[in-house]
Amino acid sequence: MRRLRSWLDATPIAGLALDVVREATGRTDPLEPLRPARAVAIPRGAHVAFWSLVGGVGTSSTAALVAHRSAGAGRAPVLVDIDRWAPSLALRAGLQAASVADALLRPGRERECLSRWSDVPFLPGAPGLDAMFETERVAQLLARVAEGDPMVVDLGSGADALDAGILATMDALCVVAGPRASQLQAAFCSVALLRAAPCRVGLVLVGAAVPDAERIAVRLPWPLFAAIPTDPYLATDAFAARAPTMAAVDRLIGALS
Ligand SMILES: Nc1ncnc2c1ncn2[C@@H]1O[C@H](COP(=O)(O)OP(=O)(O)OP(=O)(O)O)[C@@H](O)[C@H]1O
Ligand SMILES: [Mg+2]
Repeated sequence: MRRLRSWLDATPIAGLALDVVREATGRTDPLEPLRPARAVAIPRGAHVAFWSLVGGVGTSSTAALVAHRSAGAGRAPVLVDIDRWAPSLALRAGLQAASVADALLRPGRERECLSRWSDVPFLPGAPGLDAMFETERVAQLLARVAEGDPMVVDLGSGADALDAGILATMDALCVVAGPRASQLQAAFCSVALLRAAPCRVGLVLVGAAVPDAERIAVRLPWPLFAAIPTDPYLATDAFAARAPTMAAVDRLIGALS
């Protein structure tokens, strides 16, 4: 269905359908939820990490959306959850499968541990990962799992999750923040932790409109990659998003180029 939808969105039929709806409703603009958008693909071979100093801001959901949207554009990155304490992506995917911990025990055969979450090759996280986390081993695992493909990594949250050795293997880090006072405070406290970041850093504001996100971003040292709106679909445990959210994810992927 998703493929059919992407194909239809890319044809003139989508424009015609919008004209018909505009005529029927008398509304010219915006018809945001209906506006067709061509999915954007993550750059070839790019490794992108998502992180937040505090939990619960939308880091995992945004990372997964980026991976799925890029897959919809024909370039599926490998999605890896290395949240050491509370990996949540497998729950979101409704998957019980081999995890990062299993892959660490199979050096050279890590890719055999990959599952599929729709069109996205996916390696779920392991709640006990912190006990066996060694930077070099995990960095090697990521390199072998990606094997030249693009990759999206959920680092989880907290200062410990910001491992310099892992970051050094990334092309970009998305610092995810929310607009609440405590979430903003966390974003400002992240600045000191990322002063010597060995990769490009950008800000992703979840639950904020673009003008608000821009006002916040000028007070932080990183460019605003995207503002992801509050999405009633995403707020449930199902993994679905509205069109404006997808458009924001496209802007985020575009900022990674
Ligand atoms: N754009 C959004 N709009 C509305 N709700 C969202 C959005 N993104 C995420 N959520 C909701 O916020 C909650 C936290 O999301 P998510 O698990 O992605 O955050 P996290 O930062 O990875 O949290 P954790 O600290 O548990 O790893 C979830 O209930 C999710 O459904
Ligand atoms: Mg998470």
